[in-house]
Amino acid sequence: MPGSIVNPARLPPRARDSVCEQCHLSGEARIPNPGKQLSDFRPDQNLEEVYSVYVSGVSPDPLRPKALKVISQAQQLALSTCARQSHGNLWCGTCHDPHEQPADPQQYFRSRCLSCHGTALLTSHPRPNADCVACHMPRRPATDGAHTVFTDHRIARRPPAEPGTPGNDRPSALVAWYALPAALQQRNLGLAEVEVGERSKSFQMVFQGHQRLVACLPEFPNDPAVLTSIGQVLLGAGRGIDAATVFERVIRIEPDVASNYLHEGLAWKTAHNNQKAIEYLEKALERDPLLEQPYRELAKTYSEAGNNAMVRVTMDRYRRAFPKSLEAKTAAVGETGPSSFH
Ligand code: HEC
Ligand code: HEC
Ligand code: HEC
Ligand code: HEC
Repeated sequence: MPGSIVNPARLPPRARDSVCEQCHLSGEARIPNPGKQLSDFRPDQNLEEVYSVYVSGVSPDPLRPKALKVISQAQQLALSTCARQSHGNLWCGTCHDPHEQPADPQQYFRSRCLSCHGTALLTSHPRPNADCVACHMPRRPATDGAHTVFTDHRIARRPPAEPGTPGNDRPSALVAWYALPAALQQRNLGLAEVEVGERSKSFQMVFQGHQRLVACLPEFPNDPAVLTSIGQVLLGAGRGIDAATVFERVIRIEPDVASNYLHEGLAWKTAHNNQKAIEYLEKALERDPLLEQPYRELAKTYSEAGNNAMVRVTMDRYRRAFPKSLEAKTAAVGETGPSSFH
């Protein structure tokens, strides 16, 4: 765990928890507030001053199946009776010393439990009761890809036998893990819904997020994130010209950001205007020659237009920019005929 100069234990509880949560509260989506980037977070802030973390709606009751979806240690701990009833005194640092691995974990964690529960508990508690963690914080096979095991941080009285597979089914409604200012609620939720909806292919969630963003657009008329998200949804729906109009607005607000020109190029491509598509894809590369997608899109567009000379020129540029890219090399095979790019 990377150390930080600020000692989190000395911060107020929300800022203290934020230090660990910036990495250990995964969530479904993280939405920066207007004018912020995720990397703006500093370890004396509350996360929500910089961004909101959206999680799938979970039940606070560890025994209900919904709560068994894999969620981060931070979420699980917050759901535990220990955390809920100890008024901000229980935090990651109660059990984890960032500078030290316990030599005898069983004994170490037991002493952490008993620091609150007191040894008097042991007289009434069923036996054996040496290894608190083995019963109350069992290890689960991980299902979020990042871990191989996952310790159940809900600290349940009787942990459910098996965690159940997390749904590959529809994502449940998103909720902000921490309350955010009313003025940002619709904006941030809409952005999160479009992002998670697109990832999980939930048309309904994308649609809902889109409606929300369109409704709050008058309050954020020059917000690149809001406009870009609206444009992406229009693009996904095949409405190339409408999308191009929206991305054009983003370009006026942020004329130096290469990806805006890529979006505009893709919108024109969707609108079957290859000339404009080429113009904007080239502008994207002018601003950032290390974006990969514009090379491929350009090659495809030239190929469709039957301009094999420009396909070759584009592929040469692509290979020069990405000498190690397998895709740049294998795509070279396509130079002989236009159809290989499809
Ligand atoms: C900059 C990102 C970052 C921050 C901040 C951070 N961690 Fe971690 N931590 C990681 C990563 C990455 C791992 C390794 C992967 C994993 O197990 O999740 C890790 C692992 C851990 C582990 C498992 C260690 C092990 O050896 O198995 C613990 C416990 C932990 N972190 C606690 C904390 C606590 C407590 C805080 C706040 C004081 C914190 N972390 C802050 C990134 C971070
Ligand atoms: C910061 C203090 C604190 C620490 C540390 C702590 N707990 Fe708790 N725990 C509480 C409080 C407060 C409650 C609620 C009142 C009660 O049941 O005593 C609670 C409740 C519980 C419950 C009952 C849960 C329920 O839903 O009824 C269990 C089981 C439990 N703790 C186990 C543990 C174990 C095991 C550890 C160590 C891994 C631990 N606790 C560490 C404060 C703590
Ligand atoms: C009540 C004690 C307790 C608290 C509080 C606690 N943990 Fe843990 N944590 C554990 C135990 C026990 C393990 C398993 C360690 C082992 O087996 O060596 C663990 C393991 C981990 C791991 C390794 C991966 C895994 O899940 O097994 C990470 C990462 C982690 N904790 C992060 C956190 C973070 C972040 C917080 C605060 C949100 C936190 N923990 C709060 C007891 C706690
Ligand atoms: C062999 C498994 C096991 C071990 C080990 C174990 N517990 Fe428990 N614990 C239980 C069970 C089962 C219950 C629930 C009893 C019930 O519901 O009546 C329980 C209940 C509790 C409660 C709630 C008690 C109450 O009266 O509300 C706390 C707190 C608790 N355990 C803490 C601990 C601590 C701390 C340790 C380590 C010192 C520990 N447990 C070790 C199985 C275990």
